[in-house]
Amino acid sequence: MIPIKNSYEVEQMRRACRIAARVLDRVVNLVVPGVNTYDLDQAGKRYIRESGATSACHNFQNGNRIYPGYICVSVNDEVVHGIGSLRRTIRSGDVVSVDVVISYNGFIGDNARTVMVGEVSAEVRHLVETTRDALGCAISFARDGGRVGDISHAVQTFVESRGLSIVREFVGHGVGRSMHEAPQIPNHGRKGKGDRLRAGMTLAIEPMVNLGKHEVIVADDGWTAVTLDGKPSAHFEHTVLITKNGPEILTLPKK
Ligand code: MF3
Ligand code: CO
Repeated sequence: MIPIKNSYEVEQMRRACRIAARVLDRVVNLVVPGVNTYDLDQAGKRYIRESGATSACHNFQNGNRIYPGYICVSVNDEVVHGIGSLRRTIRSGDVVSVDVVISYNGFIGDNARTVMVGEVSAEVRHLVETTRDALGCAISFARDGGRVGDISHAVQTFVESRGLSIVREFVGHGVGRSMHEAPQIPNHGRKGKGDRLRAGMTLAIEPMVNLGKHEVIVADDGWTAVTLDGKPSAHFEHTVLITKNGPEILTLPKK
């Protein structure tokens, strides 16, 4: 069963997502050479608190593991779920993926973005721009009457036609009163397959794309997903509401 949000729930989702977007914006602005990822995490913690929200990542449990950070900061070959560390300093040429998931008044907003720091190589720029545009393409398929597979297929064809690889171990997801609701939204799949999409669904769509091969492994910390071949990865995510008039991106910061 995929939850359909009523008008009250949609309004709460708009609020939560606007906060998530604003926090992400503010953290991303701090990503410059010389900053360490612990300071980024602490800034995220502060911005979330100032918004009257809480981090949905902090103390998030997966099996017997508890996530210690407040946001996720993943550098270069780190795909997702990187944990801020005093020993990890950002340098020019890095790509940094920031993922912010907040809870506000019982509703979750989830979004992520990868930024390029200073001078990056042409292939890294291609990776980041393709991942960003793959998300835009995917969102255009979040339509009443469509299928989950339409989104998956759109991402896969977009990314693979540009010579890059789709991460398969992690997927997008429904989002609402909890961080992960039905349906799962893989970034590869077949058009016309999977669950039917309906107005009132709120979906976190999140392509994760590798410059090299698609395989990822989880590091010794139990959280950080890294590419097996050590090449860089990018991640963009929006929470999207399906309406009768098309997709509405909820995680766009309003000034
Ligand atoms: N956006 C990530 C997800 O949907 C956030 C995970 S929070 C963490 O899975 F606790 F796992 F870091
Ligand atoms: Co997500």
